[in-house]
Amino acid sequence: MGRSKLIVRNLRKIFRIDEGFGRYSSITAIDDVNLEVNEGELVTIIGPSGCGKSTLLMIIAGLYDKTSGEVLLDGASINGPGLDRGVVFQEFALFPWLTVRNNICFGLKMKGVPASEHDRIMKRYLKLVKLEEFEKIFPHRLSGGMKQRVGIARALAYSPELLLMDEPFGALDAQTRTSLQQMLVDIWSETRKTILFVTHSVREAVFLSDRIVVLSRRPSRVRAVIDVDLPRPRQRLSQPFLRYEEELEELIARELGDKASKTEARVA
Ligand SMILES: Nc1ncnc2c1ncn2[C@@H]1O[C@H](COP(=O)(O)OP(=O)(O)OP(=O)(O)O)[C@@H](O)[C@H]1O
Ligand SMILES: [Mg+2]
Repeated sequence: MGRSKLIVRNLRKIFRIDEGFGRYSSITAIDDVNLEVNEGELVTIIGPSGCGKSTLLMIIAGLYDKTSGEVLLDGASINGPGLDRGVVFQEFALFPWLTVRNNICFGLKMKGVPASEHDRIMKRYLKLVKLEEFEKIFPHRLSGGMKQRVGIARALAYSPELLLMDEPFGALDAQTRTSLQQMLVDIWSETRKTILFVTHSVREAVFLSDRIVVLSRRPSRVRAVIDVDLPRPRQRLSQPFLRYEEELEELIARELGDKASKTEARVA
């Protein structure tokens, strides 16, 4: 695999919470996270609820400040949001007052892509997410899965260096979810984007990933990194697939078992 696209080094995040009456408390969400994503790689992050996955993505997106450590994209420190990163979150964050077409063109405008190019680019990405006929529709007339597909098209259209996805399929039914996973792998193979994807689902992680980063409970550290050495297209019911699933389930169960894993963390 190619060179490093994203490097996260000794990342730490402490939230300071204003309790009122001049009192503050703090909560450490991320203790010490190190990870690297290579150019063109699809990496997923999995870990217990509340361990700091969204916080990590928000920091990489430049929407939250870090407490300490380094986050480098193409060797440069991230210091705020930017069009070199595309973001797709679980809540469908389309602009309700814009049509599908204009939702997608929004990022193009922000990036200063000439207006004469917009239609061609917009149509290419709408085709990738199989929504060619919905160009003129407003988001409220789309299903959840369709909204998420527009969100993906919008994030890809302005050609970011890195696509950040935080449980983008979490709110969808199982069937839609499976088909969007396949669609994402197809788009990824075609565009060779670098993708960092957060999920709760072991099956989704094994289906999508080149590598899976398993986080500990909060405050998070990297518990394990698993290379998924399975040919694509992946068969969810094949023996090797199921073995990966089992290995991950075990790791996560051990993590939730707490005491044993704390000792391990010290050893590691
Ligand atoms: N803006 C914030 N202010 C204060 N605390 C926060 C804030 N955002 C997150 N936290 C806290 O940081 C911790 C990590 O939250 P985060 O949302 O990153 O977890 P997560 O791993 O994404 O969880 P889930 O799997 O449920 O989505 C939690 O304890 C949460 O309460
Ligand atoms: Mg989250």
